[in-house]
Amino acid sequence: MSLSSVPRTRTTVFAPRLAALLKDHLGQDVFRLEPDTVGVAGHEAADRILAARRATETERPTFKPLHGRSISRTEASAVTRTVGSDVREALARPRPQDVDLSGVWPLTGHLFLRDLVLGQDPYRLRVLMSRNLELTTLLTWSVISVGAALPGRPRAGDGRLTALGQRVAGAVGYQERRYAMGMYRRAAAPVCFTVSTLVSNALWLGAPFDDGVSNRDIIHESLRLLPPSWNILRNASPEYPALDGRIGADDDVLVLPLLSHRDPALWDEPDAFRPERWRTLDPDDTPGYLPFGHSSERCWGRHMVMPLAELLLDLVRGSHLVVDPDQRTGKVPLLGLLGVADVRLVKAA
Ligand code: HEM
Repeated sequence: MSLSSVPRTRTTVFAPRLAALLKDHLGQDVFRLEPDTVGVAGHEAADRILAARRATETERPTFKPLHGRSISRTEASAVTRTVGSDVREALARPRPQDVDLSGVWPLTGHLFLRDLVLGQDPYRLRVLMSRNLELTTLLTWSVISVGAALPGRPRAGDGRLTALGQRVAGAVGYQERRYAMGMYRRAAAPVCFTVSTLVSNALWLGAPFDDGVSNRDIIHESLRLLPPSWNILRNASPEYPALDGRIGADDDVLVLPLLSHRDPALWDEPDAFRPERWRTLDPDDTPGYLPFGHSSERCWGRHMVMPLAELLLDLVRGSHLVVDPDQRTGKVPLLGLLGVADVRLVKAA
């Protein structure tokens, strides 16, 4: 069975607004999306916009202000290094054996990663990673507040905690603990939710994979067709009209990897899932390919994302799981994080 023929048995159904973006703007360069928003899909224009200035603190995906408090670059960098050390430590342990990864994805992969990376932390910290908490920010904050107020909290110096858990344990006073717990969630969410979404997308697009195809190439190709960060927002700023006359002084700009990743001028068979294409392409230097943002300020977490995603994919490939043959349709809802909802993995017949 050729790789590209596999997905033809499955149909990916984008939410209407995403489908309209693809239908109306694929192959376009700079176009109006809303009275106050311009979309950018052309790779040269995207390059100029993203190189023009750094993301502001409210545009940044991971370290936006937390409960009204700005997160400095120094703190963001320290937190990223902390979670990075927890990931490295988890990856250095013997590989989990006999894990059952059948079930509904990305939830199943998310729970696996949560336990792999943060499993040493007490329930009150791990619960911050419950997927239900994605639903409302208010709920997240109430769980964080309750967790910060309860007695019996994690103690500084408890060697069983992860490095990220130690940061919470070291926080003094209710406000600081609450802030540290919010930060715990901010840093751990992309490691668990986002990585699992990425792997789930890959499984939906191409499983079962041919033996000779590398996990890395599969992940790059999945990031191309279903980029979890499908848009990169830049608020109106004087640099942009100066770069491109189609952008007005008050226009926000939405750079759209979802479109540039399928631009027929840039890719052979743009809609086909062909991991083999990455054997000769450099993911850090391929025009229009921006799954981790622009080279001037690329995602700080990508070095932990790739090995975690490869491990997860490898475990699924080794356990002979397949996408339920009865599941023919995968829906991609309109959310900040782009992914196929509810992919069912079952044992191969
Ligand atoms: C599949 C997983 C991930 C994807 C697809 C992803 C994607 C991105 C993208 C597209 C940007 C650029 C945003 C912009 O220019 O506005 C970015 C920036 C960033 N990412 Fe990631 N990311 C992932 C995981 C992570 C992880 C695990 C961490 C660390 C915990 C992380 C931390 C950051 C930071 C610190 C930045 C830069 C500035 C900021 O957001 O505060 N990312 N990421």
